[in-house]
Amino acid sequence: MRMTVIGTGYLGAVHAACMADIGHEVLGVDIDGEKIRALAEGRPPFFEPGLDEVLTRATASGRLRFSTSLSEAAAFADVHFVCVGTPQQAGSDAADLRCVDAVVDGLAAHLTGAHLLVGKSTVPVGTTPRLAARLRGIVPAGCEVEVAWNPEFLREGFAVEDTLRPDRIVVGVTSPRADRVLREVYAPMLADRVPYVSTDPATAELVKVSANSFLATKISFINAMAEVCDAAGADVVTLADALGHDTRIGRRFLHAGLGFGGGCLPKDIRAFSARARELGVGEAVGFLGQVDAVNQRQRRRTVDIARDLAGGEFTGRRIAVLGATFKPNSDDIRDSPALAVAAAIHREGAEVRVHDPEGLHNARLAHPELRYENEPSGACAGADVVLHLTEWSDYRELDPVKLARVVRTPRLIDARNHLDMGLWRASGWTVRALGRPSPALLPGPARAGLALSRPSAAGRQRPPTARC
Ligand code: UGA
Repeated sequence: MRMTVIGTGYLGAVHAACMADIGHEVLGVDIDGEKIRALAEGRPPFFEPGLDEVLTRATASGRLRFSTSLSEAAAFADVHFVCVGTPQQAGSDAADLRCVDAVVDGLAAHLTGAHLLVGKSTVPVGTTPRLAARLRGIVPAGCEVEVAWNPEFLREGFAVEDTLRPDRIVVGVTSPRADRVLREVYAPMLADRVPYVSTDPATAELVKVSANSFLATKISFINAMAEVCDAAGADVVTLADALGHDTRIGRRFLHAGLGFGGGCLPKDIRAFSARARELGVGEAVGFLGQVDAVNQRQRRRTVDIARDLAGGEFTGRRIAVLGATFKPNSDDIRDSPALAVAAAIHREGAEVRVHDPEGLHNARLAHPELRYENEPSGACAGADVVLHLTEWSDYRELDPVKLARVVRTPRLIDARNHLDMGLWRASGWTVRALGRPSPALLPGPARAGLALSRPSAAGRQRPPTARC
């Protein structure tokens, strides 16, 4: 099949490359000429594991080309996937649909004949008929355009895998013809027995926002439990393990810590709430306000614990931050909890040194006030407190004994509950985490064991060395 993919960000670039990989003829379109040049050369403009191979394969096959021209898109195919961003509006909870509208307007002016426009971006329920009416007002007489919605559930870091082997395909269509076209697009996945849910556009649009709302609720639920654990001296990791054994609950998305960020979950729950209020059912999703509040509170709690560990104030202190991206295996720093914490601590007067395996370029652009280091040891040199804020696997490989020689004081906050606390404590570190008891609160024997493994206060005040 021939198709265009309009918008080549995290979603569109992967979709375009994967559609070409399964045998379609694809034209990827974006207004950003630099991005288009990079993609045409087989270079992903962002970090996404596995994308470079698929992209190289697809461009070399001749089945994937790129352009900045919507008129070329209109002439190239009669199926068009819309993958542009729908960020949060400035000063409002609602989604900003200007990019979607601009694509529709720009494409419509060039269309002749019959076309199917398939939205993949996350949009408020009701967008499909609104865009269909908008198109009808622009396209020339005799041109027939149908709009369908086909939400995307890919996760950054696993985007290629999620696109090629999705756990379900959802389409919202208004005609059997659109359904047939989409079944043909996804024929290899359907042959692999991937569940295919064909429904009306409103339901399809809602599947996406309710899926993200459910995931966000699950994370905030366990983070709320972490707060209770802190007050009660209980351990949220063991709690989550025990809850997860119940297959009705499951262990996934029950990782307590700094909470969710990124370009999707935070803005999607706000946009969903805003749309529900417009529909007069704001109360039905009122809990999403709590989900958001619990999530924001984890950032403040982390700053508070860091201030406490730094001796009550940040002025004159050096703080190391491990992790800048909103999650590992991505270079995306949009609404990153790690950077929000780093920036807040900097505002309170600390010198903040940040390391991240892939996100330094983006972080530097967004927060030039912070200092960036290429190695974890550089970020930790002379630090009064080390904050582990994004759970890259690299950080699990760090040697706490060697790192203790680099810092000024071996104090760690594991805000992702991902490091081996016992190992770090046995290596002389004072470790705090969200929802996990600190040694002072542990029962007698455990406290005694930990106390034995901790060095004296004098031993903890080692001078920094250049490398670890
Ligand atoms: C999310 C959804 O998982 C995808 O299904 C969806 O397609 C995508 O949004 C989207 O709307 O496009 P993504 O934003 O890539 O995907 O990231 P997630 O893996 O969902 O993680 C989101 C945030 O939650 C991260 O900051 C992560 O650190 C945090 N998280 C995740 C937790 O704090 N605890 C957990 O247990 C899981």
